[in-house]
Order: sequence, then C-alpha cells, then structure tokens
Amino acid sequence: MKDKTKLIAAGRPHGRSAHPVNPPVERVSTVLFPTYDDYLEGARTINYGRLGASTHRALEEAVTVLEGGFETRLAPSGLAACNTAILAFVGAGDHVLMTDAAYDPTRKFCEKFLARFGVETTFYDPMSDRDAIAGLMRPETKVVFAESPGSLTFEVQDMPALADAAHANGAVLIADNTWAAGYFCKPIALGADVSIQAATKYLSGHADCLVGTVTSANETAAKKIYMALLQLGSNVSADDAYLILRGVRTLSARLERHQENGLALAKWLAKRSEVERVIHPALKGCPGQATWKRDFTGASGLFAAVLKPAPLPALKAFFNGLKLVGIGFSWGGYESLALPVHPERYRTATAWEEEGPVVRFHAGLEDIDDIKADIDNGFAAMTQAQ
Ligand SMILES: Cc1ncc(COP(=O)(O)O)c(C=O)c1O
Repeated sequence: MKDKTKLIAAGRPHGRSAHPVNPPVERVSTVLFPTYDDYLEGARTINYGRLGASTHRALEEAVTVLEGGFETRLAPSGLAACNTAILAFVGAGDHVLMTDAAYDPTRKFCEKFLARFGVETTFYDPMSDRDAIAGLMRPETKVVFAESPGSLTFEVQDMPALADAAHANGAVLIADNTWAAGYFCKPIALGADVSIQAATKYLSGHADCLVGTVTSANETAAKKIYMALLQLGSNVSADDAYLILRGVRTLSARLERHQENGLALAKWLAKRSEVERVIHPALKGCPGQATWKRDFTGASGLFAAVLKPAPLPALKAFFNGLKLVGIGFSWGGYESLALPVHPERYRTATAWEEEGPVVRFHAGLEDIDDIKADIDNGFAAMTQAQ
C-alpha cells in the first residue's frame, strides 16, 4: 500500500462486526482484573493508565506505519519527545552532538538541564559531512541529534552520513522529523535509530493540542524509550491521542496543500523588493537542497524569508499590518502564520551573518491569493513606516 492508503487504514483494529470508523476514546487510570490470573497477566501488559490504553495504541500503530519503524510511543509534547529520546540513551559522563539549527528549547534542554547531570553537549554545523561528525565524536558520545530541515533556518542534513558516523562510534542518531511530518521524509530508512515528531504540528493539524511521538527503528531502542517514558512518568490524555489520530487521517491531503501554498508563497516572496532571500528546502539557495532532493519526497508549508534590513518600527508595522496571517510560535495547523525569528541569538557552532530581519512563514490551507494579499498589506504598512 502507498502512504496515503496506509494513513487511512493503520491503527483501526476492530474485533466487532459492526463498529464505528474511529477507535473509541478510552480514558483510563485504574484497570480492573477479573481474576488473580488476569492480574498476573496484566503485570506483563497494560495494568494502569500511564502510557495509555487502546486509543494510544491505535495512534502509535498508525505513526509506526507512517515512519516505517519498529514501535512508537507517545510523549506529552514534541519537546518531551526530543528530551526523553535523548535521556533514554545518556548517563553522567556522556556526550551529545546536537545540531546548531535545533529548535531552541531542545538546545536549552542540553545546555541547561543535561549539563546539571554531567552530560556534555557539543553543537555542530548542520551542514557537516560524515568526516566532520566523525571528527567531533568522543568515546563517550552516545547521541547524535539531527533536526532536518532546521525549523528556523532550514538546513537539510545528510542523514545517512550522520547515521554512519554515529554508528561507527556506537552512538545512536535521533532525528526530529516534525517538518516532514513522517510523510515527506523517512529518517529510519535513512539510518536513524529514533525519529521523533512534535505531533502538535502537522499530525494534529488543528492547532489545539500538544503531543509528541517517538518512533524507534529496532527493539533495543524501543525498550530504552519505553523505560525512559515510564520512569519519567509521562502521560498523554486519550482525548489528545484521539485528536492526533483524527489528524493523521487527513495528513496527506493537508500536506499536499501546505506544500502547494508554501511553494507558491516562497516564490512570490522571492520576487518582492522587500525580501533579500527566501530559505525553502525545495528552492535553490537553501543549504542542503541537493540532499532534500535525494532524501525527501516533498516539502511542507514552513520556510523563512530574510528581509532587506529595516528599522524595528517598520518591521512592527509589517506584522501589525497582517490581518489574516497570524503572529504565532507554532505551525502545522490549517492556518497561515508569520513569526519574527532570531537565529543570531542562539547559534554557537556557526555564525548567522544575514543583516536583515528573518521572518518564518507557515503557509496554511487558505486560498493562496488571500495569503499573498494579506502579506502585501503588511509590506505596504512597512514601506509607509520607513
Ligand atoms: C522542530 C520542532 N521540534 C519540536 C517542537 C516541540 O513541540 P511541542 O511544542 O509539541 O513541545 C517544536 C515546536 O515548535 C518544533 O518546531
């Protein structure tokens, strides 16, 4: 079956002859065992609500199929998925290699939290090749973390090269696959041991809940992830698991439109006099575009534009001039968004040398002409303020 079909069929196990299309929301903390023998059996399988029950299993099964992995577990947010996946593989004295283009809170988790427990992090240039990564490896390096493309600056990473360098050193490769939504890229097929997603974004698709998914490539990784989530006390509500699974059913149709609108908007922006350059993995000039062509089957709706240098009042006027496109931190929902971002504030392994302000755009599902008209109004307000 093709992905589009798998997304419809996966995670719908029903023993009953007549049944609803969707699995029910099974809310649970206490599980009752009819007999002592059932209790003994329960101790080996589901015996309590933490880490979920049937609704969660249905979503996990669908994401496992989507990612092409061995097993998926849910985390309370995308950030929790990133952090728990790292924690599953490190201990005091270990070392992590983290992409310099990582989502800032993932980066902070390494810099602030892991450091308190004696785990050191080195940030690496996201465009590193195999040799560069091999050169940063230490005997105690346990995790190489990739986010491809980076969710602010969109460098597309060479995942097979990263996997190769990690494995040669006995480390694992963990990939944040949120941008591609598990649909346009398969990190596990490219060599990653764990592929995580902020299901909050495209899997949900409706900007109304936070969930993370952690998909392991093999049983060894899966056991570590399971134990880390369990021991950290992670839990996801059945209602949220249900909402994400509902989003999964329409993922392919939504992503096709996000892709279409994203590309159209990026090309339109690239011609604007206010714009210095557009950074979109499918367009020339994006670092790693050749890798994107090799490893991805499409592009989602998130990309950035570097504007020509403009004073702060003009930038404010641009954002305040937007009426349809929202100013918001997230992405992956049905709505278009714009956000001022500051790569220069957090990078350490690489320098961000663009002079102009950077705006990250998420192309939603609206009519593209309406999105363009709204941004056009923003630019008009910006010009007036200059
Ligand atoms: C690439 C990436 N990974 C992880 C996360 C974290 O997801 P959540 O907001 O569900 O914690 C985000 C959120 O913006 C993200 O952009």
